[in-house]
Amino acid sequence: MVMTLDDAKRSAIAVQLADVKALQKLAIALEQKLLTAANDENIRERLGEFIKTDQKNMEVLENVIISYGIKAEPKASLVKLADETQKMMDSSELTLHEKFSQLELLKHKQFMAGYLVHKAGQVVGADIENAVAPLNTVNFENRAHQEQLKAILEVLGVRELTGQEPDQGLFARLMDTAAAATGVIGSLITQGKGSASFSVNDIVRADHRKIETLFKEIEETDSPQKRQEFFGQLYKDLSAHAEAEEQTWYPVLRSYDDTVSSVEQAYEEQAEAKVLLAELRTLSPSSPAFMTRIQQLKTAIEEHVRHEENELLVKLSSSLDMAQQEQLGKEFQMTKSRLQDTMARN
Ligand SMILES: [Fe+2]
Ligand SMILES: [Fe+2]
Repeated sequence: MVMTLDDAKRSAIAVQLADVKALQKLAIALEQKLLTAANDENIRERLGEFIKTDQKNMEVLENVIISYGIKAEPKASLVKLADETQKMMDSSELTLHEKFSQLELLKHKQFMAGYLVHKAGQVVGADIENAVAPLNTVNFENRAHQEQLKAILEVLGVRELTGQEPDQGLFARLMDTAAAATGVIGSLITQGKGSASFSVNDIVRADHRKIETLFKEIEETDSPQKRQEFFGQLYKDLSAHAEAEEQTWYPVLRSYDDTVSSVEQAYEEQAEAKVLLAELRTLSPSSPAFMTRIQQLKTAIEEHVRHEENELLVKLSSSLDMAQQEQLGKEFQMTKSRLQDTMARN
């Protein structure tokens, strides 16, 4: 009997992540509409910043979903809500204040949806925390946008109600909230980084940390059901990761004389791991044989990871410039994503 790799809780979190992404996409669409509708320079400038950050965060989200390793469609109710909101934004029934209010609500909804992924992930497994860590930045940046939107709403609301400017001008309010937001997100990773690109080195190493966490989770639980759940994720992660390495950055190292034999050895190490993985799938997670094989696989993978990190990835970083390393990182992620889709269909 071959064990199933899917787990209901993990699939439910995948839907939640898909919702976060759909909300992010909707936020960008609303911001673009508002940019056309607003004629206050301060507001337009702020919206331009929102759009830039949100587009970068869209990439962050796509990467988070690939690291998470399970994809899903957003809930039907959310797709419907997105349609309705877009229509409402196009209608002349809403004032500008009310339209901005829709965006503020959306930012709140998105922050909560992202936060929920974290909280649910904490209950289901530490490996999920590894995968969704960059979501923190997205969440806090949405929170910061929400604060700035409150300032915009205050000014637009007072203008619409009274025809006058509020006590404290928009510019001063925006400066206050922007400063507060920087305080909150100051230490977070993508601050000041205009793009969401990461080098192949960063991404491969992050995958390795997630894989190590999964081994630890399998070892630390006594429940066969939990073991099966963690193994299911490990199987999917390792398979996609190794295959994507063989399709993207291993061939680069094959072209250098001083790494060609070392990379051949890495191919062999992966082939051996593949055999162990396939065997594990046929064993019962409650059997002693399962844990023996897990130990073997763990030792083999630890060795292999050291080989990659201390030698192969070092060579890759010293041979390619940053732009090439980021490009290769992108190709690695995209290949992994395609492989995940194929595995999900089979
Ligand atoms: Fe690797
Ligand atoms: Fe590898």
